[in-house]
Amino acid sequence: MIYLTRIEHFNAAHKLYNPAWSKEQNEDVFGKCANENWHGHNYDLYVTVKGEVDEQTGFLIDVKKLSLIIRDYVLEILDHKNLNVEVEFLQGKMCSTENLAKGIWQILDHQLPPNVTLHCVKLFETARIYVEYYGD
Ligand code: NI
Repeated sequence: MIYLTRIEHFNAAHKLYNPAWSKEQNEDVFGKCANENWHGHNYDLYVTVKGEVDEQTGFLIDVKKLSLIIRDYVLEILDHKNLNVEVEFLQGKMCSTENLAKGIWQILDHQLPPNVTLHCVKLFETARIYVEYYGD
């Protein structure tokens, strides 16, 4: 079994705001992230896949193909978007890095070739904060 990681990047706007709570409660819990007028992040996305090496190519997957899958199905719907407003899989959910990583997993899990398995979606919201999701 070999593991391969492709790193991609996108930026997007969001806010953390629970509509069931008061403004004060949102500010207590989410601080600056509750700003009603949005803020942005530069996200780094690490997608790790696993499987066996193809003897003909020496590859697990052609990284160009993996990159295109991530671009076509993930970056296309997230990059330069307002995550709260424009991203279908986040509708009705809190727009957190955790929920974002889980949504990215669900998209990619259906798009990989049959010999390749998704292992981890690791999403950096800042250089010092990231989440990892392994599909469980
Ligand atoms: Ni934020």
